[in-house]
Amino acid sequence: MKTVAFQKCINPDCGATFDVGQTLTGCKLCGDLLDIEYDWCSAAIPKSMKEFQTRWQNRRFPLDFSGVWRFRDLFPFAADAMICTIGEGQTFLQNAVCLGNHIGMWPGQLWLQYEGMNPSGSFKDNGMTAAFTHARLVGARRVACASTGNTSASLALYAASNGFQGIVFIGSGKIAFGKLAQALDYGARTLQIEGDFDTCLMRVREVATHLGLYLMNSVNPFRLEGQKSIMYRVLESLSWQPPDWIIVPGGNLGNCSAFGKAFGELKALGLIKKIPRLAVINASGASTLHQLFTAGLRWNHGHVDEAQIKAHYASLESQGIHPHTVASAIEIGRPVNLKKALRALDLMNGVTCDVSDEEILEAKALIGRFGLGCEPASAATIAGLKRLLERQIISRSDRVACVLTGHGLKDPDATVYYHTGINTKNARQPAPEATWGSRANKPIRVDDDLSAILAAIGASGDIGADAGAGYVPTALELPFVEY
Ligand code: F0G
Repeated sequence: MKTVAFQKCINPDCGATFDVGQTLTGCKLCGDLLDIEYDWCSAAIPKSMKEFQTRWQNRRFPLDFSGVWRFRDLFPFAADAMICTIGEGQTFLQNAVCLGNHIGMWPGQLWLQYEGMNPSGSFKDNGMTAAFTHARLVGARRVACASTGNTSASLALYAASNGFQGIVFIGSGKIAFGKLAQALDYGARTLQIEGDFDTCLMRVREVATHLGLYLMNSVNPFRLEGQKSIMYRVLESLSWQPPDWIIVPGGNLGNCSAFGKAFGELKALGLIKKIPRLAVINASGASTLHQLFTAGLRWNHGHVDEAQIKAHYASLESQGIHPHTVASAIEIGRPVNLKKALRALDLMNGVTCDVSDEEILEAKALIGRFGLGCEPASAATIAGLKRLLERQIISRSDRVACVLTGHGLKDPDATVYYHTGINTKNARQPAPEATWGSRANKPIRVDDDLSAILAAIGASGDIGADAGAGYVPTALELPFVEY
């Protein structure tokens, strides 16, 4: 395949370009982040997004089955024969009528893009399939990442199924068991490093350079190309009509950066008319983006104030502040994609917000109560939406798509803690009652005795009407967006 793709430095004062055949995680000239760019004039671009609809009918062909690669014309950097896919991206936008009503949205306006349905249980597979394809293209054999859990699980899965050796760096005690279990089971060499995610990422970058390992963190621009497809699927579910808002949790800021790139390209190609607004939600214990954005840091046509970022990190350092949140997946203090995230916020007229651990856990319980499990980081979106509704930044009549980034069963510790007060990481020390959630659904201890069991279940037919109250529409009654 004649490649129309190349790598390009995002710094407008540099703008250096590199062949896609090179393995880079930064510009060779100035060290800034790289984008994958395309010579669209030489690429076969669809005339309309509707052209992708027919692909789905051909789903015995793996590339059309994949919810990522059926949009491959929008990131044409590899020949079909190079593509590493395991059927990722079978996700779609679900209308969350009851949850939306509960938080005061107009009926039918809240939508959830549930990425927990991916093969490794998180959105990471969208990016990993693309980065592994590039790794194969450049002949890499060993791949590595630092991770709070989901990246390592996804890397380990793709490495095992595509014949690579996977190496993952995780912070000691910083990973949920559901995620660690995957990395171990899929055979990745797993190194537990004393320190947090930021430390692990610094180390793995160093080690990757030493050993020539292929780096799979989202500083790898090919990851973000695959993650653009999450937005294509959102559009697909809405008959290619962009919603008013996209809400996403912010950790290392790869997702929001990818979403901005996706919408920027679609608009430039004339494939959409409107760009949705973006809300990036940080946990308040790990809110670098929110703090800097609130303090006025902007993309500024690519001339980001580096001194402001450095001063922020220096101040965290001098005060001994380390990121800390129950949403372990986004417990990140030095997001590598900060500049690209600022670019996305600029393009999408975006906002940032931070939410407390308590708000995250309450939102998670609410999402669960309405029938979708997600991990705490994902629930930050609903917590953020509630805040932005209160502040009237988002209107109740706006159409909002929240990205639920990971599956609920990957971080069950937080859930058990919320409902029971039991700290599963230290079961001998139950948490103080005050930390139990307002929707706590505690298991009932009951003797093995029929009348005691009947009494515990109760005769009233009470099904816990608080959250599920009222009429629940069937799937066929939900709003359907006509093509
Ligand atoms: N949600 C989940 C479930 C995640 O696992 C992550 C990141 C994020 C949100 C943040 O996404 O970095 O694109 O802003 N997890 C990484 C990991 C860091 O190692 O699994 P982002």
